[in-house]
Amino acid sequence: MATLLLLPGDGIGPEVTAQARRVAERLSATAGLDVTLAEARFGGAAIDADGVPLTQATLAAARAADAVLMGAVGGPQWAGQPYDKRPEAGLLALRAGMGVFANLRPARTFAALAAASTLKPEVVAGLDILFVRELTGGVYFGEPRGISGEGDARRGVNTHLYTAAEIRRVARVAFDLARGRSRRVASADKANVMEAGLLWREEVQALRDAEYPDVALTHILADNCAMQLVRAPTQFDIILTDNLFGDILSDQAAMLTGSLGMLPSAALGAGGPGLYEPIHGSAPDIAGRGVANPCAAILSLAMALRYSLRRPDLAVRVEGAVEAALDAGARTRDLGGTLTTAAMGEAVLAGL
Ligand code: NAD
Ligand code: IPM
Ligand code: MN
Repeated sequence: MATLLLLPGDGIGPEVTAQARRVAERLSATAGLDVTLAEARFGGAAIDADGVPLTQATLAAARAADAVLMGAVGGPQWAGQPYDKRPEAGLLALRAGMGVFANLRPARTFAALAAASTLKPEVVAGLDILFVRELTGGVYFGEPRGISGEGDARRGVNTHLYTAAEIRRVARVAFDLARGRSRRVASADKANVMEAGLLWREEVQALRDAEYPDVALTHILADNCAMQLVRAPTQFDIILTDNLFGDILSDQAAMLTGSLGMLPSAALGAGGPGLYEPIHGSAPDIAGRGVANPCAAILSLAMALRYSLRRPDLAVRVEGAVEAALDAGARTRDLGGTLTTAAMGEAVLAGL
C-alpha cells in the first residue's frame, strides 16, 4: 500500500488540503485507490509547535512516503523571523531534502473559465502551457547569501549559481515531456546580462543538439517571455525556466487560467517520492473564512496520482471531476462565484 503524506501548512493550506483529502478518501472507498493517508505539521504551524518549520522527523516521513501533498506555508505572523526560521525556509529545505529538482506547473484553461481570466477569452482559449521550473538551485540556494554591514554599507547578497549538471538534468525532463506533447520547448533566461543565464542557454542547446534533435528548442529572454505570455500565450507549449523566473512566470500564467487558485504543481527528482503543491500561497487575506478555491490542491492530488501513485486513470478522473464541476457552474469567489471551499469540494466529489 502506498503512503500519501499531507502537509497542510498555514493559512488556507489546511482548508484546501482538507478538500483534496476528501477526494483521496472517496477514491480509496470507491475506486480501489490503495493508499494510506498520513499528516504532519509543516511551516509556521511547525515553528509554533516545534520551533522549526521542518523537523527532521517530518523530512524523514516525506522521504519515506510515496508522495507528499503540501498545502501552503507562510503568513504575517512569521514574517519578522530570520530567514532560516521562516515557514518558506522549511519549504525550500523540504524541496532540497527530497531532491525534487524539476517542478512541473501546468497552466491550462478550462473551457468553462475562459471568461474568468482578466484577458480576453479569445486570447486564452485553448491555453495549455507546461512550465518546467528548476526547483533546487539558482538564486534561492546559492552561497554566499545574507545581510551584513551597518548603515549605508549594509549589504544584502544572494548568489545566482547553476552548474551544468543542474541545468542538464532539468532540461532533460523538459525534453522528455516535450516528446509526449508537441515537441516544442521555449527556454527562458537572461543570457544577455547574466553569466549563469548564458551557461543555461549553452547547456540547454547542447543537450538538445546531442540527444533531442527531434525537439524544437527556442530561447527567449525572460522579460520578453513575460510580455508574450499576456500578448499571445497560446504560442507556448513547454516553458523551461530557472527557479526564480519559473516562480514569477507561473504566477503570471495562473491568471490566464482565471485564478491562482486553479494551478497545481508536481516536483519530481531522480526517482523517490514527488512533492505536490498548489502554486499559490497561504493567502492570509482570505485565510480562516472558508472561501479559498480548493481546485489547485485537488489538481495537485491528481498529479500525485499520475506521477507517484501509479494511477493515471484516477488522475484523469479527478481532472474530469474538476472540469465537470466547473461546467456545472460551480465557482468559488476568486472565479466570480459564491461557493465556499467545502461546497466546491463537494461539487468536485459530485463530478467524480
Ligand atoms: P498568495 O498566493 O498567498 O495570494 C495571492 C492572492 O491570491 C491573494 O489575494 C489570495 O487571496 C489569492 N489566492 C491565492 N490562492 C487562492 C485560492 N486557492 N483561492 C482563492 N484565492 C487565492 O501570495 P501572497 O499573498 O503573496 O503570499 C502569502 C504568503 O504565502 C507569504 O508568506 C508567501 O511567502 C507564502 N507563499 C507560499 C507558497 C507556498 O507555500 N507554496 C506560495 C506562494 C506564497
Ligand atoms: C511557490 C512559492 C515559493 C517559491 C515560496 C513560498 C518559497 O512562491 O511555490 O511558488 O518561491 O518557490
Ligand atoms: Mn510562487
